[in-house]
Amino acid sequence: MPTPPLDHSDAPGAVYLAPREQEADLAAELAPRGVLWSTERLIATRDPPAPAVWAQDVWLEPRLASVESIGDAVRTLRGVQRNWCLWSIDHHRRCALIEAGLPPMRSRLLAFPTELPSAPLGAFALLERNLLLYSATRASVLPHGEMHFDEDHTNPPSRAYLKLWDLFTRTGHAPRPGERCLDLGAAPGGWSWVLGRLGASVLAIDRAPLAAPVADLPGVSWRSGDAFAVDPAREGPVDWLFCDVIAKAERSAELIHRWLDAGACKHLVCTLKFRGDEGKQVLPDLVAIPGARLLHLFHNRNEVTFVHGLADPPRAGSAPAEPLSHRV
Ligand SMILES: C[S@@+](CC[C@H](N)C(=O)[O-])C[C@H]1O[C@@H](n2cnc3c(N)ncnc32)[C@H](O)[C@@H]1O
Repeated sequence: MPTPPLDHSDAPGAVYLAPREQEADLAAELAPRGVLWSTERLIATRDPPAPAVWAQDVWLEPRLASVESIGDAVRTLRGVQRNWCLWSIDHHRRCALIEAGLPPMRSRLLAFPTELPSAPLGAFALLERNLLLYSATRASVLPHGEMHFDEDHTNPPSRAYLKLWDLFTRTGHAPRPGERCLDLGAAPGGWSWVLGRLGASVLAIDRAPLAAPVADLPGVSWRSGDAFAVDPAREGPVDWLFCDVIAKAERSAELIHRWLDAGACKHLVCTLKFRGDEGKQVLPDLVAIPGARLLHLFHNRNEVTFVHGLADPPRAGSAPAEPLSHRV
């Protein structure tokens, strides 16, 4: 049976972009917010924008406009602001022609450490041949919330280092030289490599050893051990607790509670890993912890990053319609 066309008659209160392969997670999270339609990773809700763990980007002020032609669409967008990125869901050729009529977007790789751009960047899509959806403001300052780095293919022993580059860049917080970091489940050492290069003092704990170039970094040491047996009262206080252990999300959640209850770390970063949907039931309890945030980083797969003690810094040039706690 052919799929009926989507009903676009109601203007959405917000439009969310799902990370690749996590559409179902975002759809489940947004279900209570009055979903109007969803297509090609975009989900529109009747409710206004609010934080969503599984959103890669949020269009904060979505508008619908009937446009008579490609030129009309270009004029509509240019009349609002200068910079736009296209999310092409249909009518791809027409979309490309609208895009060609707008100022070109230079897509530069981010060179860590770096600050995010501050120029406003809107997003648009053609929902129907003559129906433009656009939002001048978005949760992310990057096109579609995609955080592409100029990667280091030589030094880090795993690609996991991109998660910390992503987190530190989007929050504007990272360990300072000399700060004491505990890295649980650290091998082969991508995270310890990032932390060591920032000048932090790192104790890496894992049953497996760190790769040699990381183990040799000044300020980085390794101890064989079980992450879940590390006693916060003995090992703390630390400035930063990092945990990237492959374990059931319930165990990682217990570890988070143990360290926070002991007041043994100023900042906490822990990956929660899932098997399909197994383990995702821990998320509502964790997100309710005061000062906590759950982020699906661009470099997370079927996992979420719990952070505590990392407040969003004010960002120049951004005027959120809503105080979204997961601004990218
Ligand atoms: C995803 S890897 C960590 C990757 C690391 N963050 C990096 O950047 O290279 C998970 C690690 O958790 C370790 N691990 C699993 N269970 C553990 C436990 N109970 N205690 C300590 N380490 C554990 C594994 O040995 C593995 O090295």
